[in-house]
Amino acid sequence: MPKASSSNLTAERVNRERLLRRIEELAKFGATGDGGVTRLAYSEDDIRARSAVADWLAEAGVQSRVDAAGNLIARVAGRGGSRRTLATGSHLDTVVQGGRFDGAYGVMASLEAVIRIAESGTPLWHDVSLVVFSNEEGANGTPGMVGSHIVSGVPVDVDQLDHTGVPLWRRLADVGGDASALDEAVWAHDSVAAFVEMHIEQGPVLEDEAADIGVVTSITGRSNLVVEITGQQQHAGTTPMTNRCDALVVAARLIGEVDALAQKGAVRVATTGRITCSPNVWNVVPGSVHLTVDLRDEDRSRITAATAHIRRLAGDLSATTGAAVDVRQGPEVPPVAMDAELADCISDAAGQLSLPSLRMPSGAGHDAQLVARTAPTAMIFVPSIGGVSHAPQENSHDHHLTQGADVLLRALRLIDERLKR
Ligand code: GLV
Ligand code: MN
Ligand code: MN
Repeated sequence: MPKASSSNLTAERVNRERLLRRIEELAKFGATGDGGVTRLAYSEDDIRARSAVADWLAEAGVQSRVDAAGNLIARVAGRGGSRRTLATGSHLDTVVQGGRFDGAYGVMASLEAVIRIAESGTPLWHDVSLVVFSNEEGANGTPGMVGSHIVSGVPVDVDQLDHTGVPLWRRLADVGGDASALDEAVWAHDSVAAFVEMHIEQGPVLEDEAADIGVVTSITGRSNLVVEITGQQQHAGTTPMTNRCDALVVAARLIGEVDALAQKGAVRVATTGRITCSPNVWNVVPGSVHLTVDLRDEDRSRITAATAHIRRLAGDLSATTGAAVDVRQGPEVPPVAMDAELADCISDAAGQLSLPSLRMPSGAGHDAQLVARTAPTAMIFVPSIGGVSHAPQENSHDHHLTQGADVLLRALRLIDERLKR
């Protein structure tokens, strides 16, 4: 049985050149020409990116499979004959006009760590698994975190339609999933000893604090509201201002109040990210508006209070303008704490590599917050240049990307030792 030599492991690093090259190669799938990527879940580009990962695994002699939830999974046997696996991974899909690193970096760092372990001749005691979750972003019109909801045993409506009118069950089939067998994708109790998701920070904190590694303490809660405003479509030239029920004007007031709610500190952040106006013609008073509100906070009760405030506001706007303002609850994910023991292992790994690290909450949502319901979970961040993310300008320095993957690799070994049983 191969035995880990501590001096070998102290020197253990990922293949820096391979990691950076593969991040670039992956960015070609869905490249937008301005340095960004649009790779919607289950699109042709997503399918190509997933195949590339499967090919890279196969090249290293590691077989992969797709589970019923459309997650791509590969498992490397450990030396302990454990039923349990350590898992690491993230997602490959992006938002519209997103960047090259959100999700993709985590998958590439995890791939590199798993391949390194497979190549090293010093396997972990546990098995180690790479997981590429399906549809984290929900940018194709369906709620996100599809794959991580399902592995965690949280039901997902597979009949919901994406923005092109195709049901999720068909999209899952497109990537090799099977909506009729979702139970098979649920991770059995205690089958995953730990899950570690690697990610770019997507905010400015690490850069501001001159830290190379973020050790995530908690992941924000988030709640989406769907607002439908129905006014009266009319002629823009003949309808006096006193006779109007302009849905877009009502929407503008609501949007201002949503922003003010967070500006006043009632909730950490509040965003109206999506709006459609009908008929959206220059000489027509808008008849209807559809918009979404994204509320995020570490404290669920503050999200609940903010939601109640927006509902009251909708009622007031309706009473004063005559428009119908309907507020529906959309997808909701509660805040979650990361596992403290795993976080310690990550801090230790960063310390062993002489990299300054910082404990910090995540303001973005991640598959890890669903997985935390079923397995001890942790996240590692690397700095994002200028804190920019969900934009084509999203970027991170090469040395941060490679150091982060080294920390992941080392953290997996430390966690493996810590959780042996
Ligand atoms: C995930 O990308 C999020 O919206 O936080
Ligand atoms: Mn994202
Ligand atoms: Mn992400």
